[in-house]
Amino acid sequence: MTLPQTVPIREIREETRTIRTFVLDVRLPQAEPGQFVMLWLPGVDEKPMSIAHPDPLTVTVARVGPFSTALHGRKVGDALGWRGPYGRGFSLPEAGPVLLVSGGCGVGPIYFLAQQAVERGLPTTVALGARTGLDLPYVARFRVLGVELHLATDDGSQGERGYVTELAAHLAERATEPPTLYACGPERMLVVLHRFCREQGISGQLSLERYMKCGFGVCGQCAMDGFLVCQDGPVFDAAQLDGLRDFGAAHRSATGRRLPIR
Ligand SMILES: Cc1cc2nc3c(=O)[nH]c(=O)nc-3n(C[C@H](O)[C@H](O)[C@H](O)COP(=O)(O)OP(=O)(O)OC[C@H]3O[C@@H](n4cnc5c(N)ncnc54)[C@H](O)[C@@H]3O)c2cc1C
Ligand code: FES
Repeated sequence: MTLPQTVPIREIREETRTIRTFVLDVRLPQAEPGQFVMLWLPGVDEKPMSIAHPDPLTVTVARVGPFSTALHGRKVGDALGWRGPYGRGFSLPEAGPVLLVSGGCGVGPIYFLAQQAVERGLPTTVALGARTGLDLPYVARFRVLGVELHLATDDGSQGERGYVTELAAHLAERATEPPTLYACGPERMLVVLHRFCREQGISGQLSLERYMKCGFGVCGQCAMDGFLVCQDGPVFDAAQLDGLRDFGAAHRSATGRRLPIR
């Protein structure tokens, strides 16, 4: 097992009222979009976070509970532990358009993937969704990247009114060539996009979350229908998710209790 290395926080960016980006003083040039690191706050906990940029290592974190709240309380220069990178990331096609879909704090790996897609010259469309315009992260950064950017908010305060899944379906249907679809965000969003990909015959890769402890296939905590999400995923091809009992239905708590996905 790799032990965590402790490094200082180099920079902190306020993305939205609940999302912050942390740039660490370490480089991970080999990391791929969709892979994650285990972040360690000494005395608090250790949690999985997707890589939003590898060099320097950057993560974008939503404040949802004890760990993320403690992390949001850290200042530039404070020490943070990390280990990784872990998991199977996204893979881009050799050619053809790509459609990247992000909901909420799924934006980090989607931004990293968009950067690679643009570098490779792939026609890249990004659909970014959040509850309100105040909760949309990375908008300016995607614009600078030069992707075709579309926004959706539940309340219509920015971009299209409605779910980002509706926007994504609309964008895929009106594309002249079927895009490869990539998504990271809440599981109910992934379920809709999975169905869309399978019904339309579109290739898709979806990034899942399950409770993780070791992060590299030893503890079994992240088991889902015969897969270990930390090792076989977190990115899965849409076809791999066909007929899985727990996809969109259940996850496990820290103690292994099966809980419904809301
Ligand atoms: C592969 C992967 C990548 C992730 N990337 C990001 C990211 O880039 N940005 C981000 O904001 N969040 C990300 N998460 C989710 C993040 O790990 C949890 O939100 C975080 O652990 C919450 O901890 P908490 O104490 O703040 O909140 P809690 O109140 O403890 O939990 C809030 C939610 O996070 C889930 N969670 C808690 N602990 C874990 C854990 N050890 N493993 C997985 N899920 C957990 C809970 O099931 C619950 O749904 C990722 C999760 C996984 C599995
Ligand atoms: S988190 Fe331990 S096996 Fe996946």
